[in-house]
Amino acid sequence: MSSIGENGADFLVVANRLPVDLERLPDGTQRWKHSPGGLVTALEPFLRTHSGAWIGWPGVADAEVDAFEEDGLQLHPVTLSATEVADYYEGFSNGTLWPLYHDVVAPPAFHRRWWNAYVRVNQRFADVTAKVAAQGATVWVQDYQLQLVPAMLRELRPDLRIGFFLHIPFPPVELFMQLPWRTEIIRGLLGADLVGFHRPGGAQNFLWLARRLVGLEPSRGAVGVRTRPGVVQVGDRTVRVGAFPISIDSAGLDALARDKEVQKHAKQIREDLGNPKKILLGVDRLDYTKGIDVRLRALYELLADGRVDPSEVTMVQLATPSRERVEHYKQMRGEIEQAVGRINGEFSTVGHPVVHYLHQSVNRRELTAFMTAADVMVVTPVRDGMNLVCKEYVATRYDLGGALVLSEFAGAAAELTSAFLVNPHDLDGVKNALDAALTLDPAEGRRRMRALRRQVLTHDVDRWARSFLDALGTQTTV
Ligand code: ADP
Ligand code: F6P
Repeated sequence: MSSIGENGADFLVVANRLPVDLERLPDGTQRWKHSPGGLVTALEPFLRTHSGAWIGWPGVADAEVDAFEEDGLQLHPVTLSATEVADYYEGFSNGTLWPLYHDVVAPPAFHRRWWNAYVRVNQRFADVTAKVAAQGATVWVQDYQLQLVPAMLRELRPDLRIGFFLHIPFPPVELFMQLPWRTEIIRGLLGADLVGFHRPGGAQNFLWLARRLVGLEPSRGAVGVRTRPGVVQVGDRTVRVGAFPISIDSAGLDALARDKEVQKHAKQIREDLGNPKKILLGVDRLDYTKGIDVRLRALYELLADGRVDPSEVTMVQLATPSRERVEHYKQMRGEIEQAVGRINGEFSTVGHPVVHYLHQSVNRRELTAFMTAADVMVVTPVRDGMNLVCKEYVATRYDLGGALVLSEFAGAAAELTSAFLVNPHDLDGVKNALDAALTLDPAEGRRRMRALRRQVLTHDVDRWARSFLDALGTQTTV
């Protein structure tokens, strides 16, 4: 992929958010900060090494910002009004699709007003993309917020090569069928030349729904990727469907973890925590799918049972603020903060809280230092498309230290089989896994971490992006 010429960009990523968010400060000034979430973590390093354009929302309502260039990346902001943020982003994307696609762990709400805003905003993204893309360009549309864009864009620009990747789970068909606009979503996705999911199960569900809802006949066929892809014929167009498990910049994180300053910082974190024998770490967006409540409940019971000594074990939970105006999120934040308060109230001593809860985002270096300091990384989502945090932990542990407790319901569990895999609905199972990870024999720990690292270091985000773009028929230049 190359350049943005006078005639437009020939490689474009279209995502709900830009890789940077506009932040309005109380003194009236504004600045750009790194956007939250796994999509940006994964795509940004790839995009920065291949010039291209990124089309997305700047993260605040009514921001009229001209296109600009940042570190060789062309950023094209799409403006959303306050009502559109409420109805398209907080409403249909995060009040309807997010819970529906995450196994209805919270009840999805279906509102026609939200849907209408979703259609309108998807059309706007398609219109901006159609203007910015060069003749015959490759356009890579991302995630559940923009599922109508592929078909809308094809209508405007049949010359483009269009890929779509879903970063969250694609639900079982019985759940998807609840959606009043199910056929429109499937038709929207079928506008792409290639539709990608994390797991083969998502691809199969999509193929079934395409046949059932749009009356197309899926047939198996090879597209040169290893993950049993399918093919759907849409008139004279062939839509390929496959699984492409996303990953991280593994080598970059491995190198950062070896940095002397980062190591010093990790030691400092340990000291600041009072040099506990063991440190447990959780790192998540504050989201009800992440199972932060599950790990806190397990820790509470282990302390109450006397299986964990509060003078020896400390837990750090970093929780990035997320979707704070959406009702399920407000409620969950209250519950989590109450659970932290309960553990600290019952088991802490003055100056030594058992749980350190930071409702904050930390930068990449600091995050790596926390991961280096942690003896046990706890990742317990009740449902997660992939989960990059667990892969990040593994990439930082070049010393083969540490242990990973990982939910079976994270997409990453299929690859990270040497972790302590847990069913987050089985509290006793989670307690036993935490206990086993805290008391792990170092030789066994090294054996597990070596196997985990073999997977993460050889399957990085570059490999993911190339396999997707190769299947899309785009020549990557690296
Ligand atoms: P999601 O996309 O649902 O947020 P992922 O696990 O795939 O979940 O990706 C989350 C990304 O955000 C990871 O790169 C992780 O390191 C980062 N992240 C999450 N919480 C924090 C935090 N408190 N501070 C800094 N980075 C965070
Ligand atoms: O893949 C999950 C996802 O919604 C991404 O699209 C996004 O990067 C991340 O979570 C953060 O969510 P939000 O953009 O709503 O803050």
